Amino acid sequence: MDFALTQEHDLIRESAYKFGQNEVLPGLRERDREAKSDRKALEKMGEAGLLGVSIPAKYGGSDTDYISLGIVCEELERADTSARVVMSVHSGLHSLTLLQWGSEEQKQRWLPDLASGKLIGAFGLTEPNAGSDAANIKTVARKDGDSYILNGQKTWISLADYADQFLVITRLAETSAKAPYAAFIINRDTPGFSSRAIHGKLGVRAGNTGEIFFEDMRVPADCMLGQEGDGFKVAMSALDHGRYTVASGAVGIITACLDACVKYSNERSVQGEVIGKKQLVQQMIASMVQGREIGRLLYYKVGWMKNTGQRHTRECSMAKWTNCAAAFDAANKAVELHGAYGYCDEFPVERYFRNSRGAMIYEGTHEIHTLMQAEYELGYRSDKPLQQVLPTWPVE
Ligand code: CAA
Repeated sequence: MDFALTQEHDLIRESAYKFGQNEVLPGLRERDREAKSDRKALEKMGEAGLLGVSIPAKYGGSDTDYISLGIVCEELERADTSARVVMSVHSGLHSLTLLQWGSEEQKQRWLPDLASGKLIGAFGLTEPNAGSDAANIKTVARKDGDSYILNGQKTWISLADYADQFLVITRLAETSAKAPYAAFIINRDTPGFSSRAIHGKLGVRAGNTGEIFFEDMRVPADCMLGQEGDGFKVAMSALDHGRYTVASGAVGIITACLDACVKYSNERSVQGEVIGKKQLVQQMIASMVQGREIGRLLYYKVGWMKNTGQRHTRECSMAKWTNCAAAFDAANKAVELHGAYGYCDEFPVERYFRNSRGAMIYEGTHEIHTLMQAEYELGYRSDKPLQQVLPTWPVE
């Protein structure tokens, strides 16, 4: 067993960290206060090569493995969750799912522009009445000649206002396929498409979230990913990628909590000594260190399973479930450790607290992952190898 990261991983970590410091953190407090996001931030990520991570060079990507993607997510979320969310929806849920399910023609058509950031991708599964119960979606696609006509709506869509294209899961109006679902890549400039921002979020305020609507939207049949009936599997495999980015990003929140808490503990004095010398403070720091270490091991393992083409739904759910809870716990402790200063945005820890709460809801709630873990162990949930696997790494 080899736990060593490569020199390339170290370089990727350093450049993602610098991007976070130089491009994400400046002006963040104001953007977070005012709930302001900006498409330019996405373009900068493209220019820095971040949107091509884990995409093979033949499709315009940086030819780096899946552990690299996790490291980028960790370092971006160390700066702010809004930057990691871009990786989750654009790279994880959208580009990697296209890489996994797309025909050669579809991959050639879209991946190079996605990898460079010329095109921004997003993902649409959740609906007002179908969140955890993803199979209950009502958005419908009806076949009409060489096209499908889409009607319906999706909600809680990250980058709803900025993405150029969306991977959308629908029901099929009439089909002989075993499962009545399909997945389409749709363009925002298609007549019948509209979007609306969601305001008043608890966290990730510097990120864009909204609803998207389809009204008699005509989508060419060659924009379907997989075949009729594959839609739910496409959605579930997209979540294998998205949850990986959330799990690795959560470790970045813990690291950010440690950055803030170590500094504060060595500066703030009580009763003649810095609070870092107090055992209850040390207990909180130690718990965060533990969360970071366990979190890394869990997501590195999933990255390795991705690299080697193994099914990793169970392990990815474990990493997402464990790391998001550990990040929220670390952020809660970080607020505690900062006392009253932890309660206002003069220090960053209140933002970590708000942001880390969201990750226990999106990409499978804490409860869904709890149930999944129990069902795997009880033998109620299948863990059989999948037919549709990602390219393995290194690329042959
Ligand atoms: N890859 C490929 N296929 C998969 C798969 C995977 N990872 N997981 C399951 N499948 C296949 C199964 O093999 C099965 O196919 P067969 O019938 O041929 O065997 C089929 O899909 C159905 O699978 P399940 O039986 O596991 O489906 P289920 O109904 O039991 O799933 C559930 C229940 C796991 C709770 C699922 O509904 C779920 O994950 N819910 C949570 C949804 C979620 O995470 N939503 C988040 C939305 S995205 C978001 O929030 C992003 C954003 O923009 C911020």
